[in-house]
Amino acid sequence: MVKRKTPEELRSHRWYGVNDLRSFGHRSRTAQMGFSREEYAGKPVIAILNTWSEMNACHTHFKQRVEEVKRGIWQAGGFPVELPVQTLSEPFQKPTTMLYRNFLAMEAEETLRSYPADGVVLMGGCDKTTPALLMGAISMDLPAIYLPAGPMLRGNWNGVTLGSGSDTWKYWADLRAGKITEEDWQGVEGGIARSPGHCMTMGTASTMTSAAEALGFTLPGFASIPAPDSRHAQMSAKTGMRIVEMVWEDLKPSDIITAGSIDNAVTTCLALSGSTNAIVHMIAVARRAGIELTLDRYDDIARRTPVLANIRPTGTYLMEDFFYAGGLPAMLRELGDLIDRSQKTVNGQTIGENIAEAKIFNEDVIRSRAAPLLPGNGLAVLRGNIAPNGAVIKPGAADPKLLVHTGRAVVFSDYNDMAARIDDDALDIDENSVIVLHHAGPVGAPGMPEWGQLPIPKKLLQKGVRDMVRISDARMSGTSYGACVLHIAPESFIGGPFALVRTGDLIELDVPQRRLNVLVPDDELARRKAAWVQPAPRFERGYGAMHQVHVLQADKGCDFDFLQRGGAQAKDEPEIH
Ligand code: FES
Repeated sequence: MVKRKTPEELRSHRWYGVNDLRSFGHRSRTAQMGFSREEYAGKPVIAILNTWSEMNACHTHFKQRVEEVKRGIWQAGGFPVELPVQTLSEPFQKPTTMLYRNFLAMEAEETLRSYPADGVVLMGGCDKTTPALLMGAISMDLPAIYLPAGPMLRGNWNGVTLGSGSDTWKYWADLRAGKITEEDWQGVEGGIARSPGHCMTMGTASTMTSAAEALGFTLPGFASIPAPDSRHAQMSAKTGMRIVEMVWEDLKPSDIITAGSIDNAVTTCLALSGSTNAIVHMIAVARRAGIELTLDRYDDIARRTPVLANIRPTGTYLMEDFFYAGGLPAMLRELGDLIDRSQKTVNGQTIGENIAEAKIFNEDVIRSRAAPLLPGNGLAVLRGNIAPNGAVIKPGAADPKLLVHTGRAVVFSDYNDMAARIDDDALDIDENSVIVLHHAGPVGAPGMPEWGQLPIPKKLLQKGVRDMVRISDARMSGTSYGACVLHIAPESFIGGPFALVRTGDLIELDVPQRRLNVLVPDDELARRKAAWVQPAPRFERGYGAMHQVHVLQADKGCDFDFLQRGGAQAKDEPEIH
């Protein structure tokens, strides 16, 4: 029997329920908004953190969805309060939404702390919104449930199915190589994003919303439902209903997140062949809960986890197909003993109970463990003399012949240098070269943008080259593909040994052996290190200045150092009078 809170035990009681001068102000101002006492007295106040904005195409339906959430909250006897928070729109925000992920995490936490919230519905989906909202909610540790935006419908152009991001890169390369016309390119532009919802390939959004579900933060099956589907609206209302009960049950993130549920989420990301970005986000999410998720743990799970989701860019299909094939519950069930079924979820049941009846309806889209898309190694963690704290690659998205490769480095000092020279016919580069980009990490770029799918020089594209080994301390969009080594830690801008690589050096990549080295003698590297000069800081003021001082490296999740303290301290609040 779950112990239930009394109305007097609600956190919001301190704002509304007591009889003092301050609570008079809270009640009179609530009356000003048109609510009489009967409508809210003694009810859980449910904050709805909504990342809707007119700059976020992935969340265009959130204006409607929030009404459905409110409907559910009212029906369950709660008092819904919509609180807009930062939108983090992947296509529009420069230099990268990653710079602001921690900003939204802080905003979510502090909004919940400073207002009379008893529980929270987190509305996100576009890439960084999911980890940011989860990080903030975990640190605040009020009952919290996640509402994933859902993927958009398949793209379509002249009868061809288009996938977000992946087909953008593909057709852009074709345009540069002269294989399609400008008119074709405009057709792709019009058809690639044709409904509300987040990217429908296995990009960061689909990866992270699925991770949120596997972690136990959504109602079962929610993350796979396409945004325009009426079942998405129904699930939104149910989410509103459920959070009210979660408040009475006092079911909090700290009751849900364990090392086991983190492993479940990581396994899920890998079985989906999810975005490499999920590594950084999952580490940050885990650390907010006081759980140390290391790159080595990630690599261990990757070795044993087969890729079952046949979704682009690694596979063939899109999220809409995945939903029709049974969605995430079906894939989790197929993962069998690789999922810890005892882990608790927001609906009060274990994940094992939630997926017990799930079925696969299309075995090409969701593969069986007996016939996976890839047997394992959906991701690999590399180490070596230029990445002592780790780097990552997604082997399934790379040309297999490049997974063991030694080539001559062609180094670009930063993004502008690369943009200026990459298509220069005089550039000394061939298909065996290794393209290297410096200053693209958490501090250096800043915010570690998704530049890691470094462009292949036009003259090589025209020769038919479609993949090369490319190395940076940047991230890469989950919809990207290629033999791209990413997240090198420590990054070049702060003097990591990656900064010492020069054009002409030989670089050795050996994915099966998890090795990444520059073949330069140690004494020469020491000489280069002694001559290395720290670049000037990017920012002198504002959020950027705080970011560059406090952001951790990729292997630690890129959270701010001062936000990693968990539990008791984060919950301490001043007495409210
Ligand atoms: Fe929002 Fe891709 S642009 S998820």
